[in-house]
Amino acid sequence: MSTLSLSARAGLLKPSPTLAITSKAKAMQAEGIDVVSFGAGEPDFNTPEPICAAAIDAINKGFTKYTPSAGIPELRKAVAEKFERENGLKYSPEQVIVSCGAKHSLYNAMQVLINPGDEVILIAPYWMTYADQVRLAGGVPVIVHTTSESGFVPEADKLREAISDKTKAIVVNSPSNPSGAVLPRETFKAIAALAIRFDLWVIADEIYEHLLYDGEKHLSIGGLGSEVFDRTITINGCSKSYSMTGWRIGYAAAPLAVAKAMSNFQDQVTSNPTSFVQKGAVAALALPPSSIEAMRAEFEARRDLIHGLLTAIPGVKMPKPKGAFYAFPDISAYLGKQLTTDVDLASYLLEEAKVATVPGSVFEGYGHIRLSYATSRADIEKGVARIAEALKRIA
Ligand SMILES: Cc1ncc(COP(=O)(O)O)c(C=O)c1O
Repeated sequence: MSTLSLSARAGLLKPSPTLAITSKAKAMQAEGIDVVSFGAGEPDFNTPEPICAAAIDAINKGFTKYTPSAGIPELRKAVAEKFERENGLKYSPEQVIVSCGAKHSLYNAMQVLINPGDEVILIAPYWMTYADQVRLAGGVPVIVHTTSESGFVPEADKLREAISDKTKAIVVNSPSNPSGAVLPRETFKAIAALAIRFDLWVIADEIYEHLLYDGEKHLSIGGLGSEVFDRTITINGCSKSYSMTGWRIGYAAAPLAVAKAMSNFQDQVTSNPTSFVQKGAVAALALPPSSIEAMRAEFEARRDLIHGLLTAIPGVKMPKPKGAFYAFPDISAYLGKQLTTDVDLASYLLEEAKVATVPGSVFEGYGHIRLSYATSRADIEKGVARIAEALKRIA
């Protein structure tokens, strides 16, 4: 019998449940079933025209060869300028690494920071990729849970209790996927103080920074002072702000030693992000904030709509999300004898109501479901009405 086998690392990986439910919904749609999908994690807008034009122009001019692995100097400079202009973070272009999506930037960071056995603190509910990337680096995710009553904001005491002598880093994601929470300044300050006191790295995922509502202003934890800046890896990208999910451009900025290690790592794994796509990213970063305002405002209107409709369903509770494009209602009132977990409930909604959502336990947000409102207002109305009707049947 063959002794051929895969690595233990490969065994750590499970298919993404978000993608699984989205593809099941797509398969049902292909069969002609009218499914309303709240699964997608991407804006339903076109990439702004100047970005497309810049990439097409680059192709036409033959800009189709390898570039430096960490990105073209023009883009690294544009990213450094963006961080200073919008986030008050003073990075040199050498501290910026451009990668194939923010997911890739995060992966590079985890690979160069984490040793086997190192613990990394994640604030739940969290984007599940963090935990898998920590495990892929040999690390151990340590989870700090939050509640919808507290707006999914972690308590400083709980964060402190999660720190051990093995803790290496903490991941902060504000605005958050899946909860839409935006951490208040005091929480950022508490996290910064703990990171300094216990000598931790801070990985700040700011991918949703431009999708903020009710006049919220984005805060970058690295901007809270030089001590925290010197231990922060700031992650961002073009996917959500400029509706460029398929283009695959993310970037990280970090202390020089970390940036160099990430660049060396990327050298051996992917080399550069696609050459002409980088030209598109330069054009994206040159756009005035007004160019994405219509998309942000539309998301805010949809946020109001979906929040109003969901909280009108008896027993469904959720704080009003302050950013990103996700609603994360607590549906635990509907769990009991018939359906015991949020996974059962999400399957029930897909089968019986023809509505695709993502079970909260995927994000360690048990008893919740995630609805992406990157879909039309008409679909939001239709989909939530179906959910309300289906929940009534099991109440
Ligand atoms: C919190 C968070 N970070 C990062 C990403 C990855 O974005 P990218 O498309 O740039 O890889 C996502 C995508 O869903 C996300 O939700």
